[in-house]
Amino acid sequence: MGKLDNGINFGELDLEDDRNRLPLNPHLLRASNASSFADAEDREYIRADTNHVRSFNKPQRKCRFKFSLCNILLCDSDLTPAYSSSPEARRELADLIRDACVNVGFFYVSNHTIPEQVINTAIDAAKRFFALSTEEKMRLDIHATTNYKGYTALLAENTDPNNAGDLHEGFDIGPEGSSDPVKMDAPMAGGNVWPPDEIIPGFKKDVLKYYESALNLGRTLSPLFALALDLEEDFFTDKTRNSAAILRLLHYPPQEAKPADKVIGIGAHTDYECFTLLYQDASGGLQVQNADGRWIDAVPIPGTIVVNLGDQFARWTNDTFKSTPHRAINSSGSERYSIPLFFGTDYEVLLEPIRTCVSETNPPKYPVVKAGDYVRSRLEATYQ
Ligand SMILES: [Fe+2]
Repeated sequence: MGKLDNGINFGELDLEDDRNRLPLNPHLLRASNASSFADAEDREYIRADTNHVRSFNKPQRKCRFKFSLCNILLCDSDLTPAYSSSPEARRELADLIRDACVNVGFFYVSNHTIPEQVINTAIDAAKRFFALSTEEKMRLDIHATTNYKGYTALLAENTDPNNAGDLHEGFDIGPEGSSDPVKMDAPMAGGNVWPPDEIIPGFKKDVLKYYESALNLGRTLSPLFALALDLEEDFFTDKTRNSAAILRLLHYPPQEAKPADKVIGIGAHTDYECFTLLYQDASGGLQVQNADGRWIDAVPIPGTIVVNLGDQFARWTNDTFKSTPHRAINSSGSERYSIPLFFGTDYEVLLEPIRTCVSETNPPKYPVVKAGDYVRSRLEATYQ
C-alpha cells in the first residue's frame, strides 16, 4: 500500500466498505507507478480490471482495490501532454480521456490552466457575495432576468423533479462585455447582472478572471475531446468561438439530511451543456452514480478540476459520451463552496449527430436541436 502522486492513500481504503471513495482507474495506477505500492498479486488484479472496467457490467469479483466492485471509473488525467507539440502525446492523452468519457463521463484533470490564486480569489468573492443580506442578493433574482443570470436563493431551484428543492444558493453569469457573443435575438440573449461594486468591491473583476481562466481550460480540452471522437483536432473550434459558457458560484450550507430526504444540496441530475469544469473545495459531498445505480463519492483532490460530460455532448455524440447523473450532499459540517463552469457550444450551432458517432447499425437517437434552444428548455424546466 502506498500513496499516489495526488495524495490518495491506498491504505485508507476499507475493503469491506461498499462506499469506496475512489478516484481510481487503471491509468491512474499506471501513471503513478503501480509497482511502488502494489505487490505482484495486486498488479494482476489491476491488469485484469483494465478489461473489466471497460466492459463495465461483467460479473464482479473480489479485488483488493475494489474499483471493479464500484463499477465506476474516475480517471485522473495529467493535462501536461495537452500543451505538447507532439501529436503522439496528445493522442495518448485523448485515448485516456475517451476511456473516461465512454465509460463514466467523469474524470479529474491535474496540471490544468486555472491558477490557484485565481481560484482562491474567486472562492473568496463567492464567500463575500453569499454573506450579503438576503434583500441585497434578491435584487439580482435570477427569475427577474430573461436569460437566467443572477442570484438563486436556497430552495429556489429544483434539479430533481422527485425532490422538493435544492439546498444551495447560487450566482450565475455568462459572457460579459466585449466578449459577449450572444446575439440579441438568440434564445439566451442578454448580459449579466452584478451587485454594486460599493457593497462588494472587486467581486465582478475576481469572478470574471475565473470565468476567463476556466474558459481557457475548456478550450484546451476541446481538441482532446475531438481526438477522442476520431475527429480533426480543430473540429470544435468554429463551434465554440463565442462560447456561451455559464459559470455558477455555489454555496451549500451544511446539512444532516440523508440521501433519501427530499431536500439535499443538489438533487440527482445531469448537466445541460457539453462538459462541466468543476472546482470543489475540500468539503466533499459530490457523488456520481455508477452503472449499478449506486452513488460513489467523487472526493476532492487538491490541485485538480473535475470534468463531467453533459447532455449536449451526449446528444451530439449519439450517446458515445456519457452524461452521468450526479448530486451533492454537504454533510461536512461546514459551508461548502464550488464553482462549475458549463462549457457549451455556441448557441446557434445545430446539435446534429457527429459523423463518427453514427452508422447504419447505430442510427441517430435524438432529433436535431439548436444548442441555445436546448439549454433554454432545460433551464426553464429547472426554474419553473
Ligand atoms: Fe451538475
